[in-house]
Amino acid sequence: MKRKLILDVDTGSDDACAIMLAALHNDLDLVAVCSVSGNVPLENTTENTLRVLQHIGKTNIPVYKGCSGPMIRDVSSSYRVAADTRAKVVVDGKEIGIHQDYLPLEESKFSYQATPASVFYVDYLTKCQQKVDIVAVGPLTNLAVALLIEPRIVDNINEIVIMGGGHGISNETRCAEFNIFYDPEAAQRVLKCGAKITMVPLDATHKAYVNYEDARRLRELNTNAAKFAADMIEHRIEFHKLRQPLEDVNSCALHDPLAVAYLIDPTVLKDVQLLNVEVSLGGLTDGQTVVDRRYFQDNRNVHFAFDGDRKKFVDIMCDAFK
Ligand code: RIB
Ligand code: CA
Repeated sequence: MKRKLILDVDTGSDDACAIMLAALHNDLDLVAVCSVSGNVPLENTTENTLRVLQHIGKTNIPVYKGCSGPMIRDVSSSYRVAADTRAKVVVDGKEIGIHQDYLPLEESKFSYQATPASVFYVDYLTKCQQKVDIVAVGPLTNLAVALLIEPRIVDNINEIVIMGGGHGISNETRCAEFNIFYDPEAAQRVLKCGAKITMVPLDATHKAYVNYEDARRLRELNTNAAKFAADMIEHRIEFHKLRQPLEDVNSCALHDPLAVAYLIDPTVLKDVQLLNVEVSLGGLTDGQTVVDRRYFQDNRNVHFAFDGDRKKFVDIMCDAFK
C-alpha cells in the first residue's frame, strides 16, 4: 500500500529534490503540494513548485498556494531578511545564494489551485477516508493556520514529518534553523498539536550529506529528475564549501528530501529519540528548538533524529530518479 502524503514546501533548491522524490518514488502517493513563503517569497516558491512538477511530467499533482509570511513576525524586518542563509557567496566572479529566486527550469504552463493551502488542509483532512502523512520542509505557517481553523484535522494525520530545527547545529542564527526561525510561533503550535511528529533536524541532514560523487551517479541515470537533482547538489556544494563546510568539504546538506526518504525507509534516520522539543519565542535564542535530554522529562512530543544514513539516502534518490 503506497503511503499517502501532502508535501509543504518553500521551493528552493533542496525542496525541489523533495518534490521529485515524493512525486516519483513507487512507495509514495503524493496527494498535493502546498507552497509557503520562506527561502524566497510566496510567488517564487509557488512558481518554482509548479516548474519542478512540470519538469518531471507530474502536472496532475495539485499545488495549493499558502501563506505569504509568518503568522505574527514581520518578515520584511531586517530581523528576517539579513539572516545568514540569505547570504550570498561569490563563485567565479558570480554572486550565488543557496536558493535562486527562480529555479532554472521552464516557466510553468499550469497553475495552482484556487483554494488557499490552509483551507485545503482543513477540507481534505476533515473528509479523507485514509489517514495521510504531512511532510513539511519549509516554515510551518500553512499547517499552523489550518490547526487554528480546525484543530480536529489532527485525527486524520498519520504523522507529521518536519525538516527543521537543530540541537547541536544551527544555520540561520547562532541558535536557530531557518524553517523554525522564520515562523517560530507556527512551529510551536505544530509541535504541540498532538499528532505523531518526527523531526529531521540539521543534526541528521548534515550527517546524511551528498557529494560530487553522488551527483555524478545521479547524472549518469540521465533522466530529467536525476540530472536536475545533480544540478541542485553541485550548486549547493559551491555554497556549502564557502559558508557551511561539512565533514566532507566537497559535499552539501540536501535537507528536504531526507524528510521524504524517511517515509520510504525509516531507517534512513538514525539515533531517533522521543523527547520534549519546544521552540524559543524570543530573545537571543529566538526560533531555537529546545531539546530536553534529561532522563526524567514530561510531554515527550517529538521523535528527534540525531543522525542520518547518507548511503541509504542517496540510494533512495537514485532508485526514484532512475
Ligand atoms: O535549514 C534548512 C531548511 O531551510 C531547508 O528546508 C531549506 O530549504 C530551507 O527552507
Ligand atoms: Ca525548504
